[in-house]
Amino acid sequence: MRIAVGSDHAGYEFKKTVSAWLERNGHEVNDMGPYSEESVDYPDYARKVGEAVAKGECDQGVLLCGTGIGVSISANKIPGIRAALACKPEFATLARQHNNANVLCFSARFTDAPTIEQSLENWFAAEFEGGRHERRVAKIEP
Ligand code: RB5
Repeated sequence: MRIAVGSDHAGYEFKKTVSAWLERNGHEVNDMGPYSEESVDYPDYARKVGEAVAKGECDQGVLLCGTGIGVSISANKIPGIRAALACKPEFATLARQHNNANVLCFSARFTDAPTIEQSLENWFAAEFEGGRHERRVAKIEP
């Protein structure tokens, strides 16, 4: 899959972990920045990733910031984006199965590399279950 990846300065280091995992597992990474640890504003990168997914230029997205909250809030402002903050790997599974989330968000300051890698593993292994979840997901869009 084509995966858009972005962060702010707090998520910069773990963005490399995410990109390396994605490439190891056969995905095409579109790294939308930032490209250094210089301080930046997370909404700018959440927008780039969210728009790439919403326009169909990428299949899914991954975003990171200090808590993961800022990028989640920002990406969810873009129509068609369902961004989910994965605090534990089980969240990544359920975000796919129940919410059909198309952007996965991580906290760089309150998680670790094994949790991120296991969450990515779960995310790609899970499928949207549809059924009653389809109806609920349809109600999210205004
Ligand atoms: C940056 O210091 C921090 O506010 C940001 O990474 C994020 O946690 C915002 O939600």
